[in-house]
Amino acid sequence: MLKILVCVSGGGTNLQAIIEKQAAGELGDTKIVRVISNNANAYALERARNAGIEGVCVSPKAYESREDFHKAFLSAIDEAAPDLIVLAGFLVVIPKEVIQKYRNRIINIHPSLIPAFCGTGYYGLKVHEAALERGVKVTGATVHFVDEGTDTGPIILQKAVYVCEGDTPQELQLRVMQEAEWEILPGAIRLIAEGKVQLG
Ligand code: GRF
Repeated sequence: MLKILVCVSGGGTNLQAIIEKQAAGELGDTKIVRVISNNANAYALERARNAGIEGVCVSPKAYESREDFHKAFLSAIDEAAPDLIVLAGFLVVIPKEVIQKYRNRIINIHPSLIPAFCGTGYYGLKVHEAALERGVKVTGATVHFVDEGTDTGPIILQKAVYVCEGDTPQELQLRVMQEAEWEILPGAIRLIAEGKVQLG
């Protein structure tokens, strides 16, 4: 069984999609063993509680230094002994010690077709604002492995979504979530659980 730890920061709709796919038996042989948020008020923690999943908050604000936060974050991950770490709307830069210890076992969902509209400063609504500003006709979402860069690891799955005339950033964000993110993030987890993702 693949033990999954999900890291969240906000509303948790991607976490919810994973929970629902698992409940429907569509996630393969997996178990969500812990949800970690950097934000005590993240509704994603409520979603975890409602699903009977342990949710913990590890907030940088609670630590004297970034180094202390990194140690606490790594410890909160190690306690759960996950096989796979899923970043689902997680807005904290992953410490290098976590990437080194869990190399090729951390995945992230990004709300664009990487390499477009990604990297430092491209997160959440900003991604869709940039896509609309550029005038692209097609955008989408990407699931990729996490390495030391920002949105630079090997791509696992992508799904395209049409931009509609007059879209606001909020409307585009919701369509990308509904039509792409909530499908390919669980889809990537299932492929990994079934041993169908090979690196290199
Ligand atoms: C969304 O913008 C999503 O595209 C990105 O993180 C944000 C929040 O997602 N991955 P969630 O609702 O917290 O899963």
